[in-house]
Amino acid sequence: MTIRFAERLNRLGTESAFEVLAHARLLEAEGRSIVHLEIGEPDFATPDNIIDAAVRAMRDGATHYTAASGIREVREKTAAYVTRHTGVPTQFENIVLTPGSKNLLLFALLALVEEEDEVIVPDPGYPIYRSLVEFIGAKAVSLPLRQENDFRADVDELARLITPRTRMLVVNSPQNPTGGILTRADCEAIARLAIDHDLIVLSDEIYNRLSYDGAHVSLYGIDGMAERTIYMDGLSKAWAMCGWRLGFGAMPVAIARKMDTLMINSSSCAAAFTQWAAVEAFDSPESDAAVDRMVAEFSHRRDRIVELLNEIPGFKCRRPAGAFYVFPDISATGFGDRELASSLLDEVGVAVLPGRSFGPVGEGHIRLSYAASIANLEEAARRIAQYVGAAVPG
Ligand SMILES: Cc1ncc(COP(=O)(O)O)c(C=O)c1O
Repeated sequence: MTIRFAERLNRLGTESAFEVLAHARLLEAEGRSIVHLEIGEPDFATPDNIIDAAVRAMRDGATHYTAASGIREVREKTAAYVTRHTGVPTQFENIVLTPGSKNLLLFALLALVEEEDEVIVPDPGYPIYRSLVEFIGAKAVSLPLRQENDFRADVDELARLITPRTRMLVVNSPQNPTGGILTRADCEAIARLAIDHDLIVLSDEIYNRLSYDGAHVSLYGIDGMAERTIYMDGLSKAWAMCGWRLGFGAMPVAIARKMDTLMINSSSCAAAFTQWAAVEAFDSPESDAAVDRMVAEFSHRRDRIVELLNEIPGFKCRRPAGAFYVFPDISATGFGDRELASSLLDEVGVAVLPGRSFGPVGEGHIRLSYAASIANLEEAARRIAQYVGAAVPG
């Protein structure tokens, strides 16, 4: 039988990190040595106290379905955490817990955006934004983020992209793939535009704890924004819990109710013991200390990788303020970004991602995740320098 797929699948994109990881694993299975700088996942173990809390919860019976948006007490603790980190008075009714934060994005689009509506997404940006916007039949409009502006949005350019069809604006700070961070002035200017044009904003702040100079400003926390913003966060990055699958969103109650119905129709609920683990992540001083240790280590690695990359002929790398990615401009090497990323993997065993896979404006860059040991970063830089150095005079 010829299987006929629904037309909408043609509009579904992917995340190249998972594809490059799969290819890199195949090479490893053939005995090749690979340095992994492709995947956006902390290399640290989840803090022990969080694991212990989840095991305790399981032993105490947290192995059943929960309410679709999450256990009430966990939602209350999540609301208190969001209030502490954004300044927005948040109640449990504003909170939805999902198995990974990606669901919040999908649900927001399904609930609020019609086919043919326009959604402004960062470019380069997390590829799932564009993929899901197009999947639901809406139009993704690129907001360019450029290296010369430290990958911050140009607010005048944003203003020019807004049309009567613009329904939603997706903002991500600290940012994947560039590590860029919006300033308070940027957030205030974006908020003014969103309010003036009556836009819904999805503020993806999943890297908010990973900001190295204390610079993170919550767009959700800017005056007038909480009533039109879906705040997107999760356990994956700050607590090294990618595999636990817990996202948490804060939003107006009317939107939270629709997300509850979408949860009932999809996952039913996030895993009960993972929800209890979140309480330990939010409320224990041990967890805060673990996050602080990881952030200090990321900051150290960031400095080292930026230094090493800038020594490679043809590489220009800014020192990003957040997340755990660098996004150097490699255009002066003479290689295209796709060509360089694939040669680095095949020829010298360094897995990185081409900038183009994050949007057209990412062309000429590569993304490296520095969620890897200093030894691995140094080895990767040595191999890249060797490969590029052979082709580019210093
Ligand atoms: C910007 C951004 N948002 C959201 C996510 C999704 O995280 P999760 O689904 O693990 O919560 C990621 C993961 O890489 C990301 O980089």
